Amino acid sequence: MQALVLLLWTGALLAHSSCQDSAGSPQEDAPAPDTTGVPMEEEDPFFKVPVNKLAAAISNFGYDLYRVRSGLSPAANVLLSPLSVATALSALSLGAEQRTESTIHRALYYDLISNPDIHGTYKELLAAVTAPEKNFKSASRIIFERKLRIKSSFVTPLEKSYGTRPRILTGNPRLDLQEVNNWVQAQMKGKIARSTQEIPSGVSILLLGVAHFKGQWVTKFDSRKTSLQDFHLDEERTVRVPMMSDPKAILRYGLDSDLNCKIAQLPLTGSMSIIFFLPLKVTQNLTIIEESLTSEFIHDIDRELKTIQAVLTIPKLKLSYEGEVTKSLQEMKLQSLFDSPDFSKITGKPIKLTQVEHRSGFEWNEDGAGTTPSPGLQPARLTFPLDYHLNQPFIFVLRDTDTGALLFIGKILDPRGI
Ligand SMILES: *[C@@H]1O[C@H](CO)[C@@H](O)[C@H](O)[C@H]1NC(C)=O
Repeated sequence: MQALVLLLWTGALLAHSSCQDSAGSPQEDAPAPDTTGVPMEEEDPFFKVPVNKLAAAISNFGYDLYRVRSGLSPAANVLLSPLSVATALSALSLGAEQRTESTIHRALYYDLISNPDIHGTYKELLAAVTAPEKNFKSASRIIFERKLRIKSSFVTPLEKSYGTRPRILTGNPRLDLQEVNNWVQAQMKGKIARSTQEIPSGVSILLLGVAHFKGQWVTKFDSRKTSLQDFHLDEERTVRVPMMSDPKAILRYGLDSDLNCKIAQLPLTGSMSIIFFLPLKVTQNLTIIEESLTSEFIHDIDRELKTIQAVLTIPKLKLSYEGEVTKSLQEMKLQSLFDSPDFSKITGKPIKLTQVEHRSGFEWNEDGAGTTPSPGLQPARLTFPLDYHLNQPFIFVLRDTDTGALLFIGKILDPRGI
């Protein structure tokens, strides 16, 4: 009985999974010439809205960055808010001459958007995703080597679209670290710990992206039902972690038989949601899921999941990350930014990218808005509950529902954060 219903939903998800061969290359505005005789699929009206189209582009950059990052450390958790890195790169492109600008634009998938005012639309996107009700903070900064003279024709549009001023290092490691820490504290309202890592020597251009999110579920969890339970790290090892549970959770669900995973979506306040990808069997190898992640795929999932009632368990999570994503970006066709880029719109001196740093904090616990599911979320059709236990490695995607923007992505191999 249960298997039958699952199969029905598999059919719905299969329809789009099978067109994932072109993963990572979103559709263009203009339909390509039709050579197959099969009618071209109309572009979803959602992506015709400029801010959503831009969100899809930089989110595709985000999924690329995630894949490279995850590939570099297959046995470790990944926590990433690619938006802050995309923002820093997009802002930097304001100072890039043609060749260098198109390198950045290609990485951000801007070459697939026909939008004459990318930076103006970016401003709109940032305002939308960092609105106070989202509980999401993101900030980006461009830091330059000491004594650099910067053209005001670069600073003015940077402030206008990205709301950020470039920083020039003093050359005093202690002062520079303190200043960067103070900036992060101010941007993140103290939610991210001060760093003890000195600014590396030999910086020419350093990009810094920081982000923080604390989730508020639409339906909160009963903290009396939270208990220590097993989390399977892999086929052999198990650890005990605090797990929240809801025996009658209302969630959106689908089984993807191509990816061999159960997908669930839980709504958050502020018009956001988290989509979970849970393999059918315990494994740390999530490659097959990772390879299919694109903005278009996530958008399709969002449309096709069905509302059901489930017995849900989910680990409490509080993770932070501080480190470089330099190597990841170098593997993403951005190597030329680190060699001999043309940033002559910024300064007369030859400068190049030397470091890209990311700091982020992410948290969810029982907190939420209400205790009863909102009307309209009533499960249809299902008369028996389904089990959904996030007690083994999984991937999550935090997405803004309004724009479709990817705000955070995580690979959770060990919820203790070790
Ligand atoms: C992970 O799984 C993919 C296919 O699902 C496979 O190609 C790859 O070799 C696996 N990686 C490891 C490290 O086992």
